[in-house]
Amino acid sequence: MTKTPQQARASAPSNIALVKYWGKRDTQRNLPLTSSFSVSLSHMRSTATIQEAPGPQDLWHIHGNPNKAERVLQVAREATGDHRPLEITIENSFPSGAGLASSASSMAALALALNTMLAQDRLSTEEIATWARLGSGSSVRSLYPGYVLWDAGTQADGSDCIARTLYPAQHMPLALVVCVVDDQPKPIGSTAAMERCRETSPLYERFHTQNPADLKQATEAVKEQDFFALAEISEANCQAMHAIMHTAQPPINYFKPGTKAAIECVQKLRQNGTPCFFTIDAGPNVKVFCPPEHAQSVTEACEALPGVLYLLQDRVATSLHEDDAPQT
Ligand code: PMV
Repeated sequence: MTKTPQQARASAPSNIALVKYWGKRDTQRNLPLTSSFSVSLSHMRSTATIQEAPGPQDLWHIHGNPNKAERVLQVAREATGDHRPLEITIENSFPSGAGLASSASSMAALALALNTMLAQDRLSTEEIATWARLGSGSSVRSLYPGYVLWDAGTQADGSDCIARTLYPAQHMPLALVVCVVDDQPKPIGSTAAMERCRETSPLYERFHTQNPADLKQATEAVKEQDFFALAEISEANCQAMHAIMHTAQPPINYFKPGTKAAIECVQKLRQNGTPCFFTIDAGPNVKVFCPPEHAQSVTEACEALPGVLYLLQDRVATSLHEDDAPQT
């Protein structure tokens, strides 16, 4: 018989969507309305550590409110019948709750560690993803390396809502420079913001009708290793998502003055021939992608910008493990 583990530890990377998920078809199961396309990162990661709690209560050491994580724990307990009180710690190697996808990496790491602790590593990645998804939809993409497609699926139970690696990172290596303009937790969480957009924004439906064309363009750009085509569609898709937010009632605006400065800097760099593009999630920080050989010049341009507090450096991960082989 397999021995029940006394402790478990797992880590997972953050991921950044190039074609965004911004709306749910089922809020209970946390199923997306449309598919999304992302890259998983190498250094920006979360690590979940689990051990048996010393008393009868669960103990959480986690940034912010453990609501999302509790949903993941609950489904893992229901699936395994293991109800031991647990002490759970989740640590991020980067600022939490600031639109840097810390909930995606945290929930992916938690689900992986729960698979070890409660299911003796029996689950497939697809099954682990159904646990992680309940905490953060986009965490499903953090369970796969490289360029990842998360298919929205059509089944009511979410059985065909699965992610997979479409291309390995080596197919089209990308470096990432994050312009951190504010690292404080965001004013409104993504679930509440998505719901407000669905209820009030005239652009919500349009964004989702456009999704298949955006996905096709982005995945073909990667297939053809066409950086400038990927740049154009990624920026357009990001701007469309923020336009939904800006036209919601009341409007949702995650941007700060430094956000605008970074957008303008990236646009100018590209006009002058430097291959780079930006994307921004539910937060003010600007993620700038470029081929690795241009990371130095992009870094130099971004670090001097007004409103940029500091930069974070990363790259698309070739594997899901920390310190994966550097790309050449
Ligand atoms: O998975 P959530 O609830 O954290 O939502 C993620 C939403 C965006 O980051 C804005 C877009 C995306 O596809 O990652």
